[in-house]
Amino acid sequence: MPQNIYDNPKFFAGYDRLRAENAGMNEALEQPALKSLLPDPADLAGMRVLDIGCGAGEMCRWLADRGAGSVVGMDISEWMLQKAAASSHSPVTYIHIPAEDASFEPASFDLIVSSLTLHYVEDISPLFRNIHTWLSGGGRFVFSMEHPVTTAVQGRIEPRWLEDGTGRRVAWKLGHNSDEGERVSAWFVDGVIKYHRTVATVLNTLIDSGFRIARVLEPHAVEEAERARPELLEERMRPPFLFVAAEASA
Ligand SMILES: C[S@@+](CC[C@H](N)C(=O)[O-])C[C@H]1O[C@@H](n2cnc3c(N)ncnc32)[C@H](O)[C@@H]1O
Repeated sequence: MPQNIYDNPKFFAGYDRLRAENAGMNEALEQPALKSLLPDPADLAGMRVLDIGCGAGEMCRWLADRGAGSVVGMDISEWMLQKAAASSHSPVTYIHIPAEDASFEPASFDLIVSSLTLHYVEDISPLFRNIHTWLSGGGRFVFSMEHPVTTAVQGRIEPRWLEDGTGRRVAWKLGHNSDEGERVSAWFVDGVIKYHRTVATVLNTLIDSGFRIARVLEPHAVEEAERARPELLEERMRPPFLFVAAEASA
């Protein structure tokens, strides 16, 4: 059974506050980059979409507002889904299930998105094969995940940043990259489990599952956010997230 850390009260409160205060990198970096890989509204019209790890459903609602024909949001967390359901939005439906246990008919979706969730999945191979099956021929799988240069060191190297004599961050420390597998670290609470795999493993797993890789992004924050929050300039020293758009073979 995968860990369901978002239903831990202390974790949920911390994450909810981070999102409410816009203090993380979601709006400053993650969402603009992910959205840049999604189809234009003209192509999105009528599409059947699945969002894996939909959380509070922001992306589901955004896709519905741009013309998606149906959107299914899936999440392991009851509390995140309760938050999502509080902003009910046709044609969005939510299902409470770990991604690893989900099952759909072949070719059920034209677009599958997943935002900052796949680093919680222990084995992406069966999930990527399922996603390929759930997509119609030529359908698109677009996702973001914590970048392997960040997951590599979690729970292994502290502090993770290299600082100069004045305490200014000058580099990100990378280590243990080839040692794939579980990482246990502290984020709002101790014992948060994520999984590290190399960039090569992520991309080759897609290729082995029948996908063609269409685009890969390793962006820094948008410049407007960097101007408002200069600490975001540090993210130019390492890519915090990895983004991939892949197409299912027809
Ligand atoms: C960082 S949040 C991102 C939420 C949303 N995608 C967004 O960007 O706002 C990660 C989400 O993944 C969900 N999650 C973690 N492991 C999961 C799993 N194995 N199956 C389905 N959802 C999972 C969590 O409950 C949480 O809602």
